[in-house]
Amino acid sequence: MKRRLILFLMILVLVDGVAAQQSGVLEIFSWWAGDEGPALEALIALYNRHYPGVEIINATVTGGAGVNFRAVLKTRMLGGNPPDSFQVHAGQELIGTWVIANRMQDLTWLYEEEGWFDVFPQALIDQLSYAGGIYAVPVNIHRAGVMWYIPAHLDSWGISLPTSLDEFYAVCTRLQSLGIIPLVLGEAWTVIHLWDQVALSVLGADGYEALWQGDLSPSGSEMIAVWDTFGRVLDCTNINQNAAGLSWQQATDLLVAGDAAFNVMGDWVAGYLSTTLRLSPGEDYGWADFPGTADIFTWLSDTFGLPVGAPNEAAAIAWLRLLGSLEGQNTFNPLKGSIPARADAVSAAPELYNVYLQYTAGEWASARLIGSMMHGVVANERFIGDFNQVLDIYIQSRSSTGAAAAMEAVCIQAGACGF
Ligand code: GAL
Repeated sequence: MKRRLILFLMILVLVDGVAAQQSGVLEIFSWWAGDEGPALEALIALYNRHYPGVEIINATVTGGAGVNFRAVLKTRMLGGNPPDSFQVHAGQELIGTWVIANRMQDLTWLYEEEGWFDVFPQALIDQLSYAGGIYAVPVNIHRAGVMWYIPAHLDSWGISLPTSLDEFYAVCTRLQSLGIIPLVLGEAWTVIHLWDQVALSVLGADGYEALWQGDLSPSGSEMIAVWDTFGRVLDCTNINQNAAGLSWQQATDLLVAGDAAFNVMGDWVAGYLSTTLRLSPGEDYGWADFPGTADIFTWLSDTFGLPVGAPNEAAAIAWLRLLGSLEGQNTFNPLKGSIPARADAVSAAPELYNVYLQYTAGEWASARLIGSMMHGVVANERFIGDFNQVLDIYIQSRSSTGAAAAMEAVCIQAGACGF
């Protein structure tokens, strides 16, 4: 017993010693700025407690989904000035941009040391892997394309939740007659986010996967049907009014204010509504599947890696260890509106997870998982950037065949959709 105690104390001293050894400046680079920041700030505070000798620079570039961040990151990475660790989505955004260009360090050894092969789902590890290496640590799983609403508002307008696109169009007509925006959109990337969900609704999970794998032509009849449907859904939005000037938070604010009925968005909305606006899931706000996408979970994962040339590698590795730990994941996710990437984290502390997050954790375990296009899982950055222009062409021309042909051209140029 005494020997065990001594051993335990020796380990404590050792661990403490390693923690104390970390010093210098650690720059964490992300797009979690302002009212998107609380979950990251909690993680940074936790790091500070473990490694008081390190000064963290929480560097952010504001703009949902990293739309502004990525250009700054590219300038820094290509200019030989990488941050110590940066936010990047699992999948093509990580692999197709940074890993294939040899800009990231292989973290397989860290996975082995931390026992992460046993706790992160293999399908997720696959999206972080390339040519035998693993290149990032996932901090969460987000769900994209959830349909958010305020139950009290729907009641007051006499609206029930649409479960099919036809029901949605009927609800849309009624809401428009009341002067309410049926489905609120924000700046450009939120339009791509909606397109993704419409495509999934029209093509189904198999068809959607086939599109990105090169087994369904981007200009074929199925895709023309996607654009036709997208046009009808777009007619139920504020695209021609104020959408372009709204961040996703501001679009959500219109929902809360009762100016709009639905917002099809990722579950960072749950983080914003619960953590920032202090609303209760299931009571003050509700969620549903976008019509035609029941039992499909459109996923994405925020990860951090270790760039080649990271100035403070030791402190960055300690950051990555924390992100992947039970403590790190259970500090971050309850505030963020996401679920942990670790399979053992929710069950280790279920009381931390609200009713929405418990529900999502169940869905993650049981639904059909589909990688998000907008959030870099199934398509590379070049494609997503250029796809913006396809949407612009469509919004101006409303030509489904024109948009389908333009999309095919973008797929070819970007080497996406199986090209
Ligand atoms: C996603 C990201 C989320 C959230 C969202 C809105 O791309 O994965 O964590 O930040 O953008 O900015």
